[in-house]
Amino acid sequence: MQIIKTKSYIEICQKASEILVEQLKQKPKSVLGLATGSTPIGLYQKLIEAYQQNDISFKGVISYNLDEYIGIDRNHPQSYYQYMYKNLFSKVDMKDEHIHIPNNDISKIDQQAGAYNKDLKKHTIDIQILGIGSNGHIGFNEPGTPFGNETFIVELDEQTRKDNMRFFNNIDEVPKYAITMGIKNIMRSKQIILMASGKEKANAIYKMVHGEVTEEMPASILQLHPNVVVIVDQQAGSKI
Ligand code: GLP
Repeated sequence: MQIIKTKSYIEICQKASEILVEQLKQKPKSVLGLATGSTPIGLYQKLIEAYQQNDISFKGVISYNLDEYIGIDRNHPQSYYQYMYKNLFSKVDMKDEHIHIPNNDISKIDQQAGAYNKDLKKHTIDIQILGIGSNGHIGFNEPGTPFGNETFIVELDEQTRKDNMRFFNNIDEVPKYAITMGIKNIMRSKQIILMASGKEKANAIYKMVHGEVTEEMPASILQLHPNVVVIVDQQAGSKI
């Protein structure tokens, strides 16, 4: 694991965007694994700026998102589908047909995980962006998830629902289920960039870097991946 400690959130986004901009310059047809949550928003902003300055194009980029809520429609403002279009896709030249976000259509939900997994396996992700939950989850792989899991439907942890309540009016509105890439899918990526900011993440970052590799701390599996860059600010990195 390469660890980059920065002074601020803005610097995390700057460092991550430098790696991605270089990747897209070297390989315009890159396959990117994308994450949601508050943490990557500044990174997407930097990528939009690089696009506006004609440094990079997303025309050839293929993307796969990590996860999506189940129980809210794609049109719901808090769906990850809406998040991705609002924070990145609508502002760059991504082709709609290159964008993959797990389908949460409840009428066919039994088939969606398998279908997404099959699609995902057609490619190898060049760079996977990750955030981390305060409980150590990556994507929505909650503590206790088998490391061998591929895309599946997960019941969200109470801690995760509480953490994400800030995006909804109350806890009852926070979805209870999600569809997520599994740890096995994430580990197939050539490179992983994990970004973390704020003191709420300090414990998870400590255990991810120095703790035992255990399914109780999903992010700890990254110790076994050959090419991981962890980018943290002072608060998230305060224990490492
Ligand atoms: C969310 C997402 C994760 C994300 C994490 C942290 O629930 N499913 O992919 O990395 O929790 O989110 P945030 O960046 O908002 O702290």
